[in-house]
Amino acid sequence: MALLCHKTPSQSKENLLWNNPARLDIGTPMQNTSRLMADPKTGELMEKIVSLCKRRGFIFQSSEVYGGLNGFWDYGPLGAELKRNIKERWWRSMTQLRDDVVGLDASIIMHPRIWEASGHTSTFSDLMVDCLLTKKRFRADQVDPQTGTAYFFTGATDAAAAKESRDPFSVLVPRGKPPESARKIAKQFYQQRGLENPSLLGERAEPVENSTRYNPENGSLLTEPRPFNLMLKTYVGPVESADNVSYLRPETAQAIFVQFKNVLEVSRQRVPFGICQVGKAFRNEINPRNFTFRSREFEQMELEFFIRPDEVVQKLTGSVAALSDSQPPTLDPQPGWGWELWHKYWVEQRIQWYESIGLGRDTLVEYWQKKEELAHYAKATVDILYKFPFGTQELEGIAARGDFDLTQHQKFSGKSMEYFDEEAKAKYVPHVIEPSAGVDRLALALICNAYCEDEAPDEKGKMESRVVMKFHPRIAPIKVAVFPLLKNKPELVKKAREVRELLRPHLTVFYDEAGAIGRRYRRQDEAGTPFGVTIDFETLGEQGPALKDTVTLRDRDSMKQERVKLGDLVPLLTEKLR
Ligand code: GAP
Repeated sequence: MALLCHKTPSQSKENLLWNNPARLDIGTPMQNTSRLMADPKTGELMEKIVSLCKRRGFIFQSSEVYGGLNGFWDYGPLGAELKRNIKERWWRSMTQLRDDVVGLDASIIMHPRIWEASGHTSTFSDLMVDCLLTKKRFRADQVDPQTGTAYFFTGATDAAAAKESRDPFSVLVPRGKPPESARKIAKQFYQQRGLENPSLLGERAEPVENSTRYNPENGSLLTEPRPFNLMLKTYVGPVESADNVSYLRPETAQAIFVQFKNVLEVSRQRVPFGICQVGKAFRNEINPRNFTFRSREFEQMELEFFIRPDEVVQKLTGSVAALSDSQPPTLDPQPGWGWELWHKYWVEQRIQWYESIGLGRDTLVEYWQKKEELAHYAKATVDILYKFPFGTQELEGIAARGDFDLTQHQKFSGKSMEYFDEEAKAKYVPHVIEPSAGVDRLALALICNAYCEDEAPDEKGKMESRVVMKFHPRIAPIKVAVFPLLKNKPELVKKAREVRELLRPHLTVFYDEAGAIGRRYRRQDEAGTPFGVTIDFETLGEQGPALKDTVTLRDRDSMKQERVKLGDLVPLLTEKLR
């Protein structure tokens, strides 16, 4: 019986533990205003999940011994296995199980012109404002509107020191608050400008309604909004000059576009076909938060699926099949499909994939972006959102990008990105559907989804609470644990080690002989290991020949145990994990 699991999150007091900005960071925690966001106050459940992640070695703070670095995370032994499983599953489903998608593994640093062509140099930014007093930085769209009386000052003088400042400044105070509080803030501002004992000049008061020009924390005026580019800059080569500036890629997608022609040539694919890639991406996020959800270094799994423009489909088949409400949930690609149906197809494929690794449809939300929310390149975008304990938030975006990217690279590089379609006898720049998922966000979703507290009997049959990570066996970090019933019986230990060697070529195995068997089960429950194999005296044949070379196989979730022949173990377990 589940007492607490992610599906029934408790959201009590604000948990700052996992939102705390570490030192060495320009970012500060702010309100999360993402659409469909539930109560941003996170609670007990997330605190427990974060603590388990550290205790069991899923996720550690990067550079922890130096106080950490905000927005960067390290994956421990279990987390590393979980991430590998996610990436391998994705790669297999995208490429090895399909005829129409091939892979790419491109460099992280690429020619800087790529980011000009893609629009990242000019548009990949957030508008930021700084507090003129504390220098604290806010995202302009996240400043809460303030109402009150604004006090304006034209400058200040310090007669004794014969100094003056002509910098204008203003402070907003709530209605009814004395002007003295505004003057106090203003004096601090001029003191920072070298006036030890400032006398304020040109004071004027004005009522202000719903203004976002003031710092809600102290009333100080903010700077004008300025764009802050999210790309992380570096220099290529020994000289740190403007000519050598390059960027750590903010997405893996652009490498696919710029290698489109090379891959097309060598893979002998025909449109419609796709190129996919898994790899690191970097964004200098202003506000990394919600544990690993918004990080500055993360991994993406992206597919660019190239399709015929609708005009070509029309020419070839005489009509273009478009989206209708009566579309069945499983779609089979057809030559007459236009971009809308390909888009819907990939949304459905991706949801089915999430289901296959244990994220049920009821944990996901299919969010169709409104026109005004679309990125500059997108005709339509569907976000697949997951119901995290801290709110319903994006796991993956599936965008219909038209021919924007290939056309841009054609323009900026001067190299043709056109494709000659033998069947349609037409030359065109293919259009693109892009399912783009984050590995780290998915790992976090799977961890949240798996977390459960229930009750299990201890050695003496007394019920005690247990934490169990109910990962789908396909993505569980360790698939099977092998235990000799007792550590001090050499025959049991020898046999258990033989069983470990039997399983090892086929599955990720963990061998544990330390402590009481119940404790060992609990440890594996917390690690999310779906199966446990115990070697006991029956295995050795001490209870008669019928049970010789049989083991108990324990199911993590039901805690039921069955007796299985050693010879059946590998086929039985591999079947359960397929
Ligand atoms: N090529 C399209 C693209 O990059 P995006 O919506 O910016 O689109 C795609 O990113 C996915 O990458 C997101 O759905 C998310 O899973 C992941 N992602 C983006 N920014 C992230 C961040 N700061 N931390 C962790 N994952 C992130």
